[in-house]
Amino acid sequence: MKSKLLRISVLILLYVIPGISCTKRVEIDRTREKFVNSLLSKMTLEEKIGQMTLYTSGWDVTGPVLNASYRKDILTGRCGNLFNAHTVSYNRELQKIAVENTRLKIPLLFGYDVIHGYKTIFPVPLAEACSWDLELIEKSARLAAKEAASAGLNWTFAPMVDIARDPRWGRVTEGAGEDPYLGGLIAAARTRGFQGDSLSDPLTLAACVKHFAAYGAAEGGRDYGTVDMSERTLREVYLPPYHAAVKAGAATVMSSFNELFGSPATGSRFLLYQVLRKEWGFHGLVVTDYTSINEMVNHGYSMDEKQAGEQALTAGVDMDMQGGVYQNYLVQLVKEGKITESLIDQAVIRVLNLKYDLGLFDDPYRYLDDQREKDNTFSIEMMAHSLDIAQKSIVLLRNEPFNGARQLPLSPAVRRIALIGPLADNRIDMLGTWHAAGDETHVVTVLEGLKKAVSESQIIYTKGCETFGEDRAGFANAIRAASNADLVILAIGENYGQSGEAASRSILGLPGVQQELLEKIVATGKPVVVLLMAGRPLVIPWMAQHVPAILNTSHLGTRAGDAIADVLTGKYNPSGKLTMSFPQNEGQIPVYYSMKNTGRPLDPANKYTSKYLDIPNEPLYEFGYGLSYTSFKYSDLKLSSKQISMADTLTVTVEVTNTGFAAGEEVVQLYIRDLVGSVTRPVKELKGFKKLMLQDGETLSVKFTLSAGDLRFYTADLTYAAEPGKFRVMVGGSSVKCLEGGFELVK
Ligand code: NOJ
Repeated sequence: MKSKLLRISVLILLYVIPGISCTKRVEIDRTREKFVNSLLSKMTLEEKIGQMTLYTSGWDVTGPVLNASYRKDILTGRCGNLFNAHTVSYNRELQKIAVENTRLKIPLLFGYDVIHGYKTIFPVPLAEACSWDLELIEKSARLAAKEAASAGLNWTFAPMVDIARDPRWGRVTEGAGEDPYLGGLIAAARTRGFQGDSLSDPLTLAACVKHFAAYGAAEGGRDYGTVDMSERTLREVYLPPYHAAVKAGAATVMSSFNELFGSPATGSRFLLYQVLRKEWGFHGLVVTDYTSINEMVNHGYSMDEKQAGEQALTAGVDMDMQGGVYQNYLVQLVKEGKITESLIDQAVIRVLNLKYDLGLFDDPYRYLDDQREKDNTFSIEMMAHSLDIAQKSIVLLRNEPFNGARQLPLSPAVRRIALIGPLADNRIDMLGTWHAAGDETHVVTVLEGLKKAVSESQIIYTKGCETFGEDRAGFANAIRAASNADLVILAIGENYGQSGEAASRSILGLPGVQQELLEKIVATGKPVVVLLMAGRPLVIPWMAQHVPAILNTSHLGTRAGDAIADVLTGKYNPSGKLTMSFPQNEGQIPVYYSMKNTGRPLDPANKYTSKYLDIPNEPLYEFGYGLSYTSFKYSDLKLSSKQISMADTLTVTVEVTNTGFAAGEEVVQLYIRDLVGSVTRPVKELKGFKKLMLQDGETLSVKFTLSAGDLRFYTADLTYAAEPGKFRVMVGGSSVKCLEGGFELVK
């Protein structure tokens, strides 16, 4: 009875999807169930396994290429899904094989890594997160889906929601940064964006939350490395964004490469069954990461691929990406009685359900419309958003006076600008990692953007050096250009391949000879503005001391140059705030704002407290940090009560005043600290934020509400609950600068 009730309430929850009533949804699901079961009953074991198989289609400079054996596999029903195949004409050709020439005519899924755009590229996800603008972030995913779905795709391997606290890991650039609360909100926004209101809408994509789970916590920041942590940390820090995406309706989940608690995630029944299916009620499809079943042999978890296949299926993996393990061994495993055909059926049902929800059985060509592809590729809407979101992703790290004057925004008196650096007139690197089909020919470089924006000034461009290697031959020209200019803009950082997958780095300074170039340019005595373009927080202590103005632009996508020019000239006042701390040096990693207090918190006067002898404890630039061309003052922090009960809400208000001379946006952040818990609590935890626009001189009253629900955590026995006791509330424009108040939660 109890479990029946539970099932009914799960169903009710699941079916409260915008626009569709419960009864309607149940009806749709019954129809789907009937359809899918009937199809399943006609399938041979081999055909079923074909639906659990996903292969890549290559894409060459000369055009698309599909491995001849995959083509045959599609024809014989041994491969039911492809990824990396895109464009309407190519996907039509492939879909045709599946639906016109196979026995059961089951359409193919077409997956692709549409991470931050398809052809029109938006900022890399870590940069975009710095906008703290959930609506715009959702819009990015919405538009990326629109452009990609118009090119024949129906599934994206995104959002990537791995919490990342180690910038040595190159993939920090694909996620939202270090914080689980913000990470959860962004994960849900991106999921909603990709999927829209209905998967069957030919302008949406099925989302795939990845990499499940805790892939971002690899030891030493080495990609694919071992992950080990307490279950509490897993649940408290790493799982919330995946859960948020699942709650937002993500249709699929990707299992990660790493091991956790000693078992590879792809073979982890704890993750894939206990957490994902049982606790979170996930009904969708689980796909592996690229060959991650095969890799269970290397992990030392499986004696051979056959055993790996058995373990993955039993753990809860429905689809094998690229490894061919299911294709090669599942029939045999069934024959040997090691797995049951009903286990295979469950997986196949999930694949067919997804195809059904995407509308592919109604019309397998629904995503394949030439006119739509033309209309939606690089459309005005796409290009406009690419500029909008790129402007909002830029973070002003420093803007100190030089010879008595601030350099940014650029003064009209600056007539001669030297624009220097390997990223200054560069297209491809502006697209960042995972730029899908991003077309560099549409990229606006900084040089181009700046030329348009300051047409009266003279711009002398020279590259200076590359982002890699030892070549200093361009230094002399660069120094000459700088010496002859009123101001120097240096576009330096990482190229697109220096972050992302398999791009871990142990030394996080500027790669190649760029630091040397920077020092030589600063030595000319000219004012310098650095455009820092990297996929990750870099270690830049020298720059932070010697360069008066630094903009963290990261890799901003197609309209990078326009967005940067708008910020340089002050047409757009920067408003981004970091979502991942910049370490003082590599030895400080991991450094994040929500650390624990320890038994000996830092006391500069006491040697025997928790600190370094050689660097401060604080990061160079903290989570939530970011400047504006104006300034903001926080005052009058008020709490509606000194005490609240478990059922009450607390209202927190603060006055924020724009005290500068320009209109600007501010991200007002609210943190709490639970002073005493049955387990220790971080010194700060983000619990809310609001982004507001304030005219110069304007004051706005900002209101937050907190309830016991916001104060929950995994207590000593791992129940998720709030504990009575005292709390500190902190509100400010970064995780360091805050006004403070306090209240008590009582039973
Ligand atoms: C491997 C990456 O880890 C994953 O993020 C990506 O989606 C797949 N390859 C497919 O390209």
